[in-house]
Amino acid sequence: PRKIIIDTDPGQDDAVAILLALASPEEIDLMGITAVAGNVPLPLGHKNARIVCELAGWTDIKVFAGCDKPLQRDLVTAEHVHGKTGLDGADLPDPRMDLQQQHGVDFIIETLRNEPSGTVTLCPIGPLTNIATAMQRAPDIIPRIQEIVLMGGAYFEVGNITPTAEFNIYVDPEAAEIVFGAGVPLTVMPLDVTHQALTTPPRIAAFRALGTKVGDTVAGWTDFFERFDMEKYGSEGAPLHDPCTIAYLIAPTLFQGRHINVEIETTSPLTVGMTVADWWRVTDRPANAMFMRDIDAEGFYGLLAERLARL
Ligand code: BDR
Ligand code: CA
Repeated sequence: PRKIIIDTDPGQDDAVAILLALASPEEIDLMGITAVAGNVPLPLGHKNARIVCELAGWTDIKVFAGCDKPLQRDLVTAEHVHGKTGLDGADLPDPRMDLQQQHGVDFIIETLRNEPSGTVTLCPIGPLTNIATAMQRAPDIIPRIQEIVLMGGAYFEVGNITPTAEFNIYVDPEAAEIVFGAGVPLTVMPLDVTHQALTTPPRIAAFRALGTKVGDTVAGWTDFFERFDMEKYGSEGAPLHDPCTIAYLIAPTLFQGRHINVEIETTSPLTVGMTVADWWRVTDRPANAMFMRDIDAEGFYGLLAERLARL
């Protein structure tokens, strides 16, 4: 299995990503979860990560607290989407698992230094603050990263927090600039992909039909999560963003994209946080990211239901 660290701000869709990883031990060896401030403030984020591990019965997963605010900006949260707790839609007990004492950024650095070079993949599904901080503090880890597979950005689907920016990149664009400029193999799941992965009623029903605590919980989360998008955009369901990263590691052929140059806007007040993707290769800027655009949504939801049934 592939060794990964999930860097997250849970969030219902983050929670489903964690569950998908825990349900797939043949493909994925989850070395730890680092929480970052994003959808909810940090204390709620690492609490939610532990709630999710306990729900899955994986109480030995190490959960760390990382950075509590972006590199240079004030934190922007998204309770308007995820609810006050970040995991609204299901009633789960407070975690009994301990939070690790080590800082999440130190865990990322230590893990990359201790494991053989090129064998650890990072999966950031929140703002990129922890990853960028690790890179700044310990540049020696950069060439040791096997790949970064992240959820963030948008090109054809433009923005969900401003007209031109996706939430994860918008919250900490300076961090995103560092990560996109690091020269690490980078695979990006933007809104262009995730807006094709909608939680339609039959897909939610399939989770509920699992007849398990995990199935009911995921159905409750997606039901809740959905309300926001359906009311606001009139879409048939809500995008289940973050699990696309884990699904890619399990079944990469579900996704298609292009290896292109992607730069991050950090200064313009109108477009800050935009992922400027050179999809048509109109510049000679070197490619730095595999920028996905399409997903086999039926295959993705089939994989998800099949894996969640194992928990
Ligand atoms: C991203 O923002 C968060 O609200 C979700 O968890 C996802 O990571 C989508 O823009
Ligand atoms: Ca997230």
